[in-house]
Amino acid sequence: MSNNREQWGTRLGFILAASGSAVGIGNIWKFPYIAGENGGAAFTIVYLACIMIVGLSILVAEFVIGRKTLLSPVGAFEKIAPGTNWKYVGFLGVASAFVILSFYGVVGGWILKYITVSIVGGFDSFASDTSASGALFNEFITSAYSPLFYQLIFMGLCVFVIIRGVKGGIEKWSKIMMPLIVVLLGVLAIRGMTLDGGMKGVSFLFNPRFGDLSASAIVLALGHSFFTVSLGMGTMITYGSYLKKDQNLLSSALWVIFLDTAIAMLAGVAIFTTVFALGADPASGPGLIFVILPSVFPEIAGGTIWSSIFFFLLFMAALTSAISILEVVTAYFIDQKGWSRKKSTLIFGSVITIVGCFCSLSLGGGINIIGIFGEDFFLGGTFFDVMDNLSGKYMLPIGGMLTALFVINKMGMKDYIKELSVGSDNQNINPSIIKGFLIVAAVVVAFIIFNEFYALLSGKALVG
Ligand code: PHE
Repeated sequence: MSNNREQWGTRLGFILAASGSAVGIGNIWKFPYIAGENGGAAFTIVYLACIMIVGLSILVAEFVIGRKTLLSPVGAFEKIAPGTNWKYVGFLGVASAFVILSFYGVVGGWILKYITVSIVGGFDSFASDTSASGALFNEFITSAYSPLFYQLIFMGLCVFVIIRGVKGGIEKWSKIMMPLIVVLLGVLAIRGMTLDGGMKGVSFLFNPRFGDLSASAIVLALGHSFFTVSLGMGTMITYGSYLKKDQNLLSSALWVIFLDTAIAMLAGVAIFTTVFALGADPASGPGLIFVILPSVFPEIAGGTIWSSIFFFLLFMAALTSAISILEVVTAYFIDQKGWSRKKSTLIFGSVITIVGCFCSLSLGGGINIIGIFGEDFFLGGTFFDVMDNLSGKYMLPIGGMLTALFVINKMGMKDYIKELSVGSDNQNINPSIIKGFLIVAAVVVAFIIFNEFYALLSGKALVG
């Protein structure tokens, strides 16, 4: 079957698709507000260290496993370690894809809704009035039907792209959307910097405030580095499995990480310059983009255009990530069950959408399916929170750690380096250094996971 496996058309197409997966809601929504709350550049420095040590090692490992086996996660682990339990790491990835996409699709729907509100000038009445913009947001996400409608459209678009396959779907759309994201974000960042007082936002983001950097911020940076680079659930194994042998995996991984980080920073600049120029609260946490921005954009000239651009680029970032998550599930059914792409995409796109409906409804729409277990059952009060925490805090880090251990213990450095060297001019890759990085990655992540479990069981984390 691997002979007629779909492949990326070009190296650029692959890099844009992989960075499209990486660049998502995590970069544009989450990074700016967690950096804002946790010491600005001090947080960014820690985050960069996490990405370069842990993120890069695991990203390269996923590319190597994918390209070596030409299979998506379950088949890939099974092929390298036949008859062992390692294939369950692949199953964990497929399960993570279900969990993440169910709530990610809901947020994708919120973004679509905000595009429609913005385009018709719907933010105008929110000028400087965060209680009005906050009321709209709360009313919308806690209502029953409206969010489901937008979520359905967002998921429908995911299915539309994935059904068209690797080259004609994922690659084609990533090649259109990624450059657009960079350009539009660049325009917004310049607009922000030229606003009166906008540069205060830049210094807020790039001035290190080490006093605000707590131990928990370090844990947060590490967890975020998994989510933002789409690691630990086999997305990058799947994308790597569509590669030809002539790609330099290390340099591709560096490109993905560079683009992911650069876009997160650019988003930070675009957002904080605007927030500072208009004197809004920069440390307003998760509400930063859905509550604060709709109240500051109407105050600048051409506000409707700027806010529509912002939500449109956020939508594209969310879509290029969401398709990569759906592709993990689709590829599993194609590779392991011999299903057609159309059948697997349609069936599992629908199943995930239905699970997602329950995430959305748990926010106030009337059905919180975990509610029967009591108010604070397992990782959060709502089904939405449970899915979010379960994936971000546990599934992805565990998947990433096991991937690193798999390379060290099962695949072996010799085979690993051999595959890594294919397509690279540099034949002097030092196995001990690469192994050292993988070990550090596994140990650091193991500690983070332990810390989370400790917090879960005892009510208080060791760190953070
Ligand atoms: N990296 C994406 C983001 O930053 C999220 C994601 C996680 C995508 C895991 C795929 C797999 O939003």
